[in-house]
Amino acid sequence: MKDDTLFPLYNKSEGADAPHPPPKVSQDGKSSGVTSMHARRVYIETYGCQMNVSDSELMAGILTQSGHQTVPHLDDADVVLVNTCAIRENAETKVINRLKHLNHRKRRHPELIIGVCGCMAQHLRDRLLDAAPYVDLVMGPDAYRNLPVALDSLARDVESHVSLTDRDPFVGLRLDKNEDYADIAPIRKEGIRAWLTIQRGCDKMCTFCIVPFVRGRERSLPLKLLVEDVEKLVDQGFKEVVLLGQTVNSYHDDTADFGDLLYAVGEVNGLERVRFTSPHPADATDSMIDAMANSPVVCNHLHLPLQSGSTEVLERMRRTYTAEAYRTLVSKLRERVPDLSLTTDIIVGFCGETDEEFMETYQMMADIRYDSAFMFKYSEREGTLAHKALPDDIPEKVKGERLEQIIELQENISADINNAAIGDIVAVLVEGESRRDADRYHGKTDGFKTTVFPKADSHIGEIVSVRVHSTTAHTLIGEIA
Ligand code: 5AD
Repeated sequence: MKDDTLFPLYNKSEGADAPHPPPKVSQDGKSSGVTSMHARRVYIETYGCQMNVSDSELMAGILTQSGHQTVPHLDDADVVLVNTCAIRENAETKVINRLKHLNHRKRRHPELIIGVCGCMAQHLRDRLLDAAPYVDLVMGPDAYRNLPVALDSLARDVESHVSLTDRDPFVGLRLDKNEDYADIAPIRKEGIRAWLTIQRGCDKMCTFCIVPFVRGRERSLPLKLLVEDVEKLVDQGFKEVVLLGQTVNSYHDDTADFGDLLYAVGEVNGLERVRFTSPHPADATDSMIDAMANSPVVCNHLHLPLQSGSTEVLERMRRTYTAEAYRTLVSKLRERVPDLSLTTDIIVGFCGETDEEFMETYQMMADIRYDSAFMFKYSEREGTLAHKALPDDIPEKVKGERLEQIIELQENISADINNAAIGDIVAVLVEGESRRDADRYHGKTDGFKTTVFPKADSHIGEIVSVRVHSTTAHTLIGEIA
């Protein structure tokens, strides 16, 4: 198998000298070129972050425009696309196990086409086909325009009964700093919350992180187009939009920055709420904070990844801020945005992390008192700067113990914060019926807390006032005030 990263994408089964230009998709979202002669029913399975969910919606858009159909169940599909994550080793292990399972199905149904898309495809490249030779398609995040061409050629092989061992895989792994899919209309599930990608790729070079290597250079979508997208989403019935980017607040379009975008989106008629994820502390400018403080539509919720509370560790991680600067930023945010709900990401056991350095993280979490946190053991990723330059020298057992300590701390803090909300009236955007009780609705507060309450005469899509009367570990329970 040849690596096509430096070459235009081509279909292996037609040879390297037969490049396929990507199908053109026009501004109104209709395919202006290829409509498939080999329409397939495609099941897309998504792993990892919200950006991947958003990319799956984009893939569904590209496929539908070229005459394919996405289906909600694997049983109904003749193509399965697994959209993958590479952020930690266990994310990749999970997908490898899933692929083995899909291979059993393929043995029974040799016409099944199996594709691996997204970050893990981009990360493992040839090694993915070594580990899972039954995979028909390997495609990275910047190559999705080639999906119709790939499916057509693979479907042709299937239809002409090319034997499984003779089927050549289709590989698309070129990263393209100009690809922003701005002209593609994603296909979303109906609902009240829509995710909107405003930026792709990442230019930060955190030493632990694989993202810049699998998603390429940072690029922002035009502000005007994003505002139009939000208007369309509101027309479709969405009430809340979550702006997505790897370092979402480094967004820029000519002279407009992230704060300008927040204001502009906040002014779209009919939009109730806007959130964003994930910002980088070093890009938390006054312009962003002003928009959070002043625009009533921008939620009082910030997911602000800390990673470590030790300046020395942050330096080894190349996070470009100190622990002190982060604390100062949090004070400023809390001053400017009253009732701010603050959440974070933490990594324990990063290269060389001493007990003292770990305790600085512990202490910082105890001082800041996050509403909630995602906490991880450091997982070395091949290709990152840390993998090249810093030994992964903290024993697994120590990583596990440190993780347990901060999880316990955070669980107590989250419970305390939730309990303190008992008696409060919170504004909840109603999302749907509670899974456990058809007489109740669930929704989120401005601060992104899940809240459950009896329906009374409220409706999905409405913002209602709920008086909190009790809590569970991660949920507020109440009734309409
Ligand atoms: N090991 C563990 N956690 C990681 N993250 C990113 N890379 C790694 C890694 N190599 C975490 C960070 C990031 C979140 C999305 O995943 O905390 O903010």
